[in-house]
Amino acid sequence: RPPNLYSFADIDSDLAPNLRKYVLDQQNEACKRHGVFRIAVSGGSLPKTLAKALLPPSNGSEEDKVDFSKWQIFYADERCVPLNHEDSNHKLVQEEWLNKIPKEMAQPEVFTISEEHLDDAQETADEYEQKLVSVFAARDSVKLPLFDLILLGCGPDGHTCSLFPDHPLLREQDAWVLSISDSPKPPAKRITLSLPVVLAAAKVGFVATGGGKKDVLKKIFETEEGSKLPCGLVNEGGGEKVSWFCDQAATEGVSFP
Ligand code: 6PG
Repeated sequence: RPPNLYSFADIDSDLAPNLRKYVLDQQNEACKRHGVFRIAVSGGSLPKTLAKALLPPSNGSEEDKVDFSKWQIFYADERCVPLNHEDSNHKLVQEEWLNKIPKEMAQPEVFTISEEHLDDAQETADEYEQKLVSVFAARDSVKLPLFDLILLGCGPDGHTCSLFPDHPLLREQDAWVLSISDSPKPPAKRITLSLPVVLAAAKVGFVATGGGKKDVLKKIFETEEGSKLPCGLVNEGGGEKVSWFCDQAATEGVSFP
């Protein structure tokens, strides 16, 4: 079945609570399965929306509790800059979301890139891959890391993570973490999860809001060309795996699958 495309009236009162339920369903499932919740998140506008979804207090029900003590957070993509640099996705996620988690609550474990070889994007990617290996098991024992949830944004050109349209990185079958030195969206040097890693996740959630997304969503959901864009390739995971959380501005005129 095709990916789920949800369109909410607005972000604060509609999309955010539904995204919360979705994320907490994955948290609860994952904790039942293996006692930990492994999630990867992107930069862009996503961290702000995540904060709206996950910071409000619980409604008291068992399913609605955010248990950050079980969370292991990774970055779906990251820029090769120091962690306190204004282009850093880690800095963004901290400022928009993680730093706002009340201090009396358990805090999640966050896996950042190493700052040792930032001038060498491939080295930075290799080091991040090693972090994944240390958490998900050795590369020779598992083919791919299995995230419980990967949350992504969708660029106006159909990119996701730092996987850009028609880029040779899209053909990578083997590596878990890739480097890119010619990202069309600055900064140029970045690391990103590979497409096979995204497709191996238990669930993939896109968050795409605002009128600036409607043309690319139309393309992705309605055209052959769009199905070849990075977001379209992730959609091949189908409705069991892939869900889109959008607002009405982003889905205006888009035919639902
Ligand atoms: C990055 C992001 C990138 C982002 C999209 C959508 O670091 O550049 O991870 O993949 O998610 O560009 O960004 P918006 O949500 O801001 O539109």
